Amino acid sequence: MCGIIGVVGASDTLDVLLEGLERLEYRGYDSAGVALVRPGETWRRRAAAGVESVAALRVACADAPGDARTGIGHTRWATHGAPEAVNAHPHLDCTGRVAVIHNGIIENHAAVREELEARGHHFASVTDSEVLAHLVEESRAAGLDLLDAVRASLAVVHGAFAVAAVDADEPEVIVAARRVSPLIVGTAPGVSYLASDVPAILGRATTFYAVNDDEVVRLGPEGFRAVDLEGSPIRLRQLAIDWDLETAEKGGHDDFLSKEIAEQPEALRATLADRRRRDGAITFDELRIDDDELVAVRRVVLVAAGTSHHAALVAKYAIERWARLSVEVDIASEYRYRDPIVEIGTLVIAVSQSGETIDTIQAAREARRRGARVVAVSNIVDSSLAREADAVIYTRAGLEVSVASTKAFVTQVAALELLALRLAQLRATLPASDVEALFLGLRAVADQVAATLARHDAVRDVAATLAGARDFFFLGRHVGFPTALEGALKLKELTYRHAEGYPAGELKHGPLALIEPGVVVVAVTTDPALHAKMLSNLAEVKARGATVVAVATDDDDSVEAVADFVLRVPATEPLFTPMVDIVVLQLFAYDTARLLGRNVDRPRNLAKTVTVE
Ligand code: G6P
Repeated sequence: MCGIIGVVGASDTLDVLLEGLERLEYRGYDSAGVALVRPGETWRRRAAAGVESVAALRVACADAPGDARTGIGHTRWATHGAPEAVNAHPHLDCTGRVAVIHNGIIENHAAVREELEARGHHFASVTDSEVLAHLVEESRAAGLDLLDAVRASLAVVHGAFAVAAVDADEPEVIVAARRVSPLIVGTAPGVSYLASDVPAILGRATTFYAVNDDEVVRLGPEGFRAVDLEGSPIRLRQLAIDWDLETAEKGGHDDFLSKEIAEQPEALRATLADRRRRDGAITFDELRIDDDELVAVRRVVLVAAGTSHHAALVAKYAIERWARLSVEVDIASEYRYRDPIVEIGTLVIAVSQSGETIDTIQAAREARRRGARVVAVSNIVDSSLAREADAVIYTRAGLEVSVASTKAFVTQVAALELLALRLAQLRATLPASDVEALFLGLRAVADQVAATLARHDAVRDVAATLAGARDFFFLGRHVGFPTALEGALKLKELTYRHAEGYPAGELKHGPLALIEPGVVVVAVTTDPALHAKMLSNLAEVKARGATVVAVATDDDDSVEAVADFVLRVPATEPLFTPMVDIVVLQLFAYDTARLLGRNVDRPRNLAKTVTVE
């Protein structure tokens, strides 16, 4: 996700910005830029060199003015527009005096851009963010000061943002604002800072403040003043920060895994933002495939590896149910070696967080060679898979550092279910009102995930009781089955315990022979339609001495009869349950691994991205 830094009142402005951007590198980025402000002049440099971008930017800034006391800087994680210098921030207005940096997504950017262009504005990039620079420009031209100009601009845009703006005509001012995307302010005598994260300004600022949603801050050398969107003064909450740099990079978490688990609501919101047009049509800006081609689809094949394969399995249920298309899911490493059949109308969806997994890339190549249209679902803009595919949908989970995938899974499920709804719209297999209700339900999942995360203590207690167990079976039916597979994968990756995911209906065809006292059965029981069947399966394992842990909805009062432990989750539409239910299983694996003293970010023998067969 993008990183933001700003400083006003400094004597070493460029150093503050570049050091801050280096410290934000762990967030992941593909390009970087800075703008320095002196009276009457805004000076900008940008670089797009992948993870070398900040180093390249440092070189590009060799001729920077040494006397600028105000500056803003940005590391970009591409969402709208390729990771090229022209799309890197800061973005300038038509006069070249206003510069803006932005983290988040402006959902109505296309409509706003059209209006601005009609009024004569010239756009230099294809980003959603650039509209902000031109909106501020218009309000400045109308006589508003920078603070009011930013407030007026924010009244026009919808979506998520942390934004900062400077103007050469107010050279000792930065105006920043936040909705959803993180933003903090820091102060030291004679200098004010802003950043998306504490590490960027750690060791520079001495006092830190949180900016909340819909708050706007005007920073000057003497300090800052904050207002709400209506302009009424407000006080910012001071943060107690006593972190070292390493803790700060993990956002105060002990490890990247717990940080990434906690980021899931934000990741879901980002993935689902900006996905519906005014007429109700679900839309993917980045999808380079037109509606006619999607209408012509007769069969869908999903290929993926690891956690992405489990997300693909969930998508099968959604596409078949909503779009009435027959769907096959293949493990990528198997697909290319089994002489796959690609008929006219076959759409292949290759799912990969990194977009660099060799098996998934090779499967996509094989499918294209045989004539299929290939859509990539990837978290990395312009990844190898994204470049090779005919079309791409980006999950916008932000950088995932921990080897065990968490926020990538929930965002892949969300993106694939969104595609399933789009196919349903185009094929008219669901009434418009159902698509609308499902779309809104999908957007509400982020809150259900947040509510589930708030129950971490209950999961920790169960993990503590069962930390000595060595054998685990994870059972589920319908989409509870891929959830069980993913829950088992998290446990085996993180704890090195034996864990297997099984469709509950297959229990009697083998695994039941392994059930005895000491074995733990973790069951996903959240689908009302299959609840009774799940409970009778659990009665069977309990009768043979297993310890039963059930993932159950809040309103389920019958599960306790067969479960030793119940992990509660909010109820949701059955096809959305994997995104909510997996959260308690991630936490369960995480807590167990911590109790066993495992390295949760780097499990033994495993790699984040597997680029060899
Ligand atoms: C490795 C990682 C997993 C990941 C899988 C697929 O095994 O350890 O976390 O799910 O690769 O990765 P991809 O980037 O293609 O989704």
